[in-house]
Amino acid sequence: MEHKDLSKIYTFISLLGEGGFGQVWKVKIKDSDDIRAVKLIKKLEYGVPKEKQYKSVLAEIKALKKLNNTRNSQFYIIKFYQFFVGINGPNEKPRPRGLNFGGPKTRGYYVIEMEYFEGMDLYQYVINMKEKGLSYAFNLSELCILVVHLIKAIDFIHKQKLAHRDIKPPNVMVRKGKVVMVDFGLACVFEECIGESGTPSYQGPEIKKCKGDRLCKIDWSKGDIYALGKTLQFLVMNSEGSTDIINELLWNMTDFDPKSRPSASEALKVMSSKDACARSAMTGYMPSPFEDLPTQITEKIGADNLDDTLDTNIKRSIFGSK
Ligand SMILES: Nc1ncnc2c1ncn2[C@@H]1O[C@H](COP(=O)(O)OP(=O)(O)OP(=O)(O)O)[C@@H](O)[C@H]1O
Ligand SMILES: [Mg+2]
Repeated sequence: MEHKDLSKIYTFISLLGEGGFGQVWKVKIKDSDDIRAVKLIKKLEYGVPKEKQYKSVLAEIKALKKLNNTRNSQFYIIKFYQFFVGINGPNEKPRPRGLNFGGPKTRGYYVIEMEYFEGMDLYQYVINMKEKGLSYAFNLSELCILVVHLIKAIDFIHKQKLAHRDIKPPNVMVRKGKVVMVDFGLACVFEECIGESGTPSYQGPEIKKCKGDRLCKIDWSKGDIYALGKTLQFLVMNSEGSTDIINELLWNMTDFDPKSRPSASEALKVMSSKDACARSAMTGYMPSPFEDLPTQITEKIGADNLDDTLDTNIKRSIFGSK
């Protein structure tokens, strides 16, 4: 695979997020106006190739490619552009040979180039609203929009026989009511999904039980549903209110018995037949991938010192104008 000098390809603008394995940066492609997000994962730690990181990169690319090749993926899945190996990190000069352990084959970064999603992840959004002293982050109709579109996104992934395995608020991005999933580093094809994965507070009991057993057999579609239920609980806890149907659904999604949890498509069916709020979110709102945000708002999103007067603008950018 070709090894590229990142300083020749991108101008690094800002750090968007940092997780267990890597960093996600907002970048501008040099010699063009295109803005992208790149996930950078270090290939080496103390000179030792990181097997886990490699596996996670492979999983992420495999899942993103498969999902991106499916019709309507732009509504639910972050767009994937390319994957390559970079010989240097953000604003780092390429290292001359010999200064690093390993050879040019093992040093550097795995680079996953994606669409830059102008919005916020659900966790950031709630924190921002809390910091403003607001008593809730979502009103009822906003909650319904998010619940419906998040379940649709998971249904979309599951229909491709893939499990995400790390569903949680920081891995869900929103803008104008459009919900897009990121972070497929733990994803797997249903029949190949074995062992524990994910974030402890979003793990069902059957998954916790597998701790330490890499070959443990789990129905990971239902593991995702548990994490989805926990994510919906987080939304409801930060909402003005909820509906009986949504409350019942998230109760069932987090049932200790995986077999008693509904699938994502069953959950959608229940909501479309029984819940007026969810039904209006399904039919009344068609997320459009072409809606753009005014730049002065997006510049501010994610900034630490959000201007109070921007609250409504942020709301509008996340949920569309109301
Ligand atoms: N394409 C994107 N556009 C804008 N922001 C993004 C994008 N992808 C990720 N982010 C932001 O960066 C954060 C981290 O991204 P991601 O979850 O993919 O990496 P991670 O948690 O570091 O990954 P891992 O769990 O594999 O170590 C997200 O929570 C989100 O806020
Ligand atoms: Mg993440």
